[in-house]
Amino acid sequence: PPLADLAGLRIVLTAGPTREAVDPVRYLSNHSSGKMGFSLALAARRRGADVTLITGPVALPTPEGVHRQDVESAVDMLHAAEQCIDHADIFIGCAAVADFRLEHPEEHKLKKRPDEDTLTLTLVKNPDIIATLAHRANAPFMVGFAAETRNVTHYAEDKLIRKRLDLVVANDVSREGLGFGSDDNAVTLHWQESGRHCHQALPTADKLTLAHGILDHLLVRFHATHPA
Ligand code: PMT
Repeated sequence: PPLADLAGLRIVLTAGPTREAVDPVRYLSNHSSGKMGFSLALAARRRGADVTLITGPVALPTPEGVHRQDVESAVDMLHAAEQCIDHADIFIGCAAVADFRLEHPEEHKLKKRPDEDTLTLTLVKNPDIIATLAHRANAPFMVGFAAETRNVTHYAEDKLIRKRLDLVVANDVSREGLGFGSDDNAVTLHWQESGRHCHQALPTADKLTLAHGILDHLLVRFHATHPA
């Protein structure tokens, strides 16, 4: 019989990049393909969870049975997440959210000026979606990702505490063939037990295999912190 160890759990997931408008035809974004987040959504759904997937612009089909909501910017993604977080047991932030957006996106297409060789854009900080949700009263079990190119453990532990998360999935995105856009990934899980930092590595595998490994561990931590 299919594994149904997530039956009865409501999971809200974010995936993909966000797009921050520069003008009507241009945007700032990043290389997230959505594969990691969609693999988590597919794996969680197959294991019986009720899954809501809030995604930035990606070229991926919706996994069967998953409730999908498409958004563009970080602010849109935050609003969409706030709409459904109250009913969630678990939130997983896999989206590569742009840290900054244009202070004043142009209403009309930016034009080159013959007399100017440089262009200065003023950016303002985006809200931190996962930290905002984690600091609400009655926040669900919060799982964040950490995309780092160095000092992975240090930054993962910092995000765990500062963003008030229950679990951090860290990936070293400087490694060739892993992380952004690739089919494979390798992650380290970080959490706290009785005030002590713990971690466990999941070796390189395709993102669906890793998604199942992440969910296995997540479920153990979820039950440890939410006894029946
Ligand atoms: O989509 P793929 O091509 O499959 O690639 C997968 C991935 C590399 C994008 C994914 O595995 C990953 O690491 N996602 C998180 C990317 C990221 O933005 O990491 P970060 O270290 O900048 O952010 C840390 C956490 O805070 C993340 O959970 C992120 O969703 C969240 N965040 C960040 C900024 C912000 N303004 N709001 C947030 O909620």
